[in-house]
Amino acid sequence: MKAERWDDWMVGELRALDAAGLTRRLRPMASADGRTVVTGGKLVLSAAGNGYLGLAHDPEVLAAARTALETSGASSQASRLVAGDHPLHHALEHECAELVGLPCALAAGSGYLANVGLLRVLGRDATILSDERNHASIVDGCRAAGARAVRRYRHGDAAEADRLLEETAREGGRALLVTESLFSVDGDLAPLAELGRSCAAHGALFVVDEAHGLGVAGATGRGGLEEAGRPGGADAVVGTLGKALGGYGAFVACSPELRALLVTRLRTTVYSTALPPAVLGGCLAAVRRLRRDPALVQRLQANARALRARLAAAGFRIPGEAWSPIVPVVLGDNRDTLAAAARLLEAGVLVAALRPPTVPEGTARLRLSVSAAHTAEDVETIAAAVIRCVPGRRGA
Ligand SMILES: Cc1ncc(COP(=O)(O)O)c(C=O)c1O
Repeated sequence: MKAERWDDWMVGELRALDAAGLTRRLRPMASADGRTVVTGGKLVLSAAGNGYLGLAHDPEVLAAARTALETSGASSQASRLVAGDHPLHHALEHECAELVGLPCALAAGSGYLANVGLLRVLGRDATILSDERNHASIVDGCRAAGARAVRRYRHGDAAEADRLLEETAREGGRALLVTESLFSVDGDLAPLAELGRSCAAHGALFVVDEAHGLGVAGATGRGGLEEAGRPGGADAVVGTLGKALGGYGAFVACSPELRALLVTRLRTTVYSTALPPAVLGGCLAAVRRLRRDPALVQRLQANARALRARLAAAGFRIPGEAWSPIVPVVLGDNRDTLAAAARLLEAGVLVAALRPPTVPEGTARLRLSVSAAHTAEDVETIAAAVIRCVPGRRGA
């Protein structure tokens, strides 16, 4: 048989993506303030980012990043275990562990790397229970783990998770359950209290990805576990630094034993250059700012409530928590979603158009997001543009 030509294969793949309305395109953009971006030569309001607290442009954060850059250089130049263990790592880890209420933490290169690496460390020969809508980084971690079994439970279904945990406990061996806290594309909170209780009852490790919960959920922004009345109530919390905290990177907060294991075995950190000093310095300032100033979280949640209320009053059915700044407008069809996002951009508002495999087939959606940096007027502009540009479609 003749070998298939690689360029024929690539063209075929691209054609198939295009036919399904699934092609993704990069769009250069820059932001000077966290609420607007310049793209295609035009200044537009952004309702697309994950910088929920507007900290990427906070003067304190910028000053701390600048100081670290100037005193320690532009790169860590090695993995932490080799020559890249800057003292700022330790200060940041201490602050992150206190933020989520666990004994200690280990920094990681990104949330994606933290999830994949952590599940590889914990999952080998174990049974992993995973919410069916968990983020791609968790799915990839489950695939890479070498687990005995990966069992997906229905989204947010604590009763099904409990049943599977019970079954797994009867079979013996180690089990862990992993869930996002505030779901990144649905804006709803996992039933963390129930899941935590089930894990404790069946001796399973409870792993919570607070990527979109930190700085967002709970009265003081400590995350979904705080909102669920169980701050610190997980065995491991993955937190990202590139979303509400306005920097880059991530951490795994956990027990001293798990941290010690991760220092040796977290391959995505062991075999990767450490976060650069400027990022560490900026993130440290951001976490301190969040811990000192819960008013930021209140402003964010007020903006989220206002956007949701305005859209609901116009007849949109928006899933998710009333305080959640992730505001999904589910349209279903891939091309309709792209067209609606294009109309919104034309009207001066940038939103994300999410299609499969990011979301399940037939549930393509606009994902709007607000931040504490948005003014009340910005929120009104976003809502009015959505109401104007998504005619006749009223969400899921
Ligand atoms: C739930 C969830 N976990 C992890 C990640 C990955 O985090 P990072 O962007 O830091 O790689 C994301 C990013 O979108 C996410 O939504």
